Parts: sequence; structure tokens; C-alpha cells
Amino acid sequence: MKGVVLISGSGSNLQSLIDNAEKIDLDIQAVISNKEDAYGLKRAQSANISTHAINHKNFDTREKFDQSLSQIIDQYQPDIIILAGFMRILTSEFTQKYAGKMLNIHPSLLPKFQGLNTHQRALDAGECEHGVSVHFVTSELDGGPVIAQARVQVLADDTVESLAQRVLTEEHKLFPKVIHCFTQGRLSLNDNCVVVDDKCL
Ligand code: GRF
Repeated sequence: MKGVVLISGSGSNLQSLIDNAEKIDLDIQAVISNKEDAYGLKRAQSANISTHAINHKNFDTREKFDQSLSQIIDQYQPDIIILAGFMRILTSEFTQKYAGKMLNIHPSLLPKFQGLNTHQRALDAGECEHGVSVHFVTSELDGGPVIAQARVQVLADDTVESLAQRVLTEEHKLFPKVIHCFTQGRLSLNDNCVVVDDKCL
């Protein structure tokens, strides 16, 4: 299945998709970053995947940025659009256009800790467990229907870095699994409800 991956940074999740691409039947057509210096672009180039950098600062409105982003995406006619650490808020026009085929990974057990600094906030809140969620993207930031989650225990001596690292290890396992489910046609979004193997979650 043809996919386009959107990133903003290191791209370790992208790397786990590249490494698992064949196994999960994902043909990554292009990687797009809103930051020219995102390390993930180098990972994509090393895997001979087309890359695009589109700096949001060159656009005076969110709408114009999203329109340009959408034009690049549409060149590839992807069946799935994967947000792997893409740190931009998207307009509702954009999210509606790709409804049901855009997935995001978020480092918290949603609906807890939507937005940024999730690991710090989990520590500050004294959570015993933390984790990662994969969800369909809707116009609500980190608010679309959750498909799957993985949990980690929060340890007494955890720092933001140690906790982030443990969550990231789970991210690299969970995201390819969920995407495989999608590429096999087992996962869809129906009326804001996640459907897996014909059952609404
Ligand atoms: C991950 O924690 C992801 O959940 C979040 O941003 C981070 C991206 O990391 N949305 P990477 O660029 O995949 O290494």
C-alpha cells in the first residue's frame, strides 16, 4: 500500500517503518518535513525515498501551508498518510480531506496529555503508568479516535529522558503493527468509530 510519511524531527518512528516496510506491506513513496534540518530526511534519503522540505515559516497562513502540503502529498496518491512526529497543527479542511486515511502517533495514553511535553506532564501528575497512542487524525488536536495504545510503568527514579526513551521503544513496535492492520484492510474509520475486523472498538 502506498504511503506518505510526515515528520518534523529525528524520525526514529520513520526508521521503524522503513525497517518494517516490506513486512507490513507499506510502500513509502515520500517523506515530507516542515523542517529542512530534520534528521528524518536523511534517514529517508539513505533508504532512497523521495523527500520534501516545506518550511511553514514561508507561509503567512496555516491554510496556505496546508494547501501546499496537500499538493505535494497528492502527487503520490497515497492510500495512507502517516504523521510520525509531525509537529504542526493542521486545518480542518486538511484533516477532513484525508479523513480515515491519516494516522498519528502521540506519546501519551490519550485522552490524557494531549499536546506537548507529555512526559514531563505525566511525571508532574504522579502517574503510575504512561505510554503511547495511535489514532486517526480528525480536526481535534490529538483528539481523533484511538486505535491502539501501549503502556509503560513510570518508575520512581524516571526522568523525562528515561521515560521518553521507554515510551519511544513501545512506539517503534506499536506504530508498524497498527499500520500493518490498516494496509491489510482490517482497520478503518466509520462515523468516528474505529472498526477492526468489522467490529467497532
Ligand atoms: C514521538 O514521541 C512521537 O510520538 C511524537 O513525536 C516524537 C517523534 O519522534 N509525536 P521521532 O521523530 O519519531 O524520533
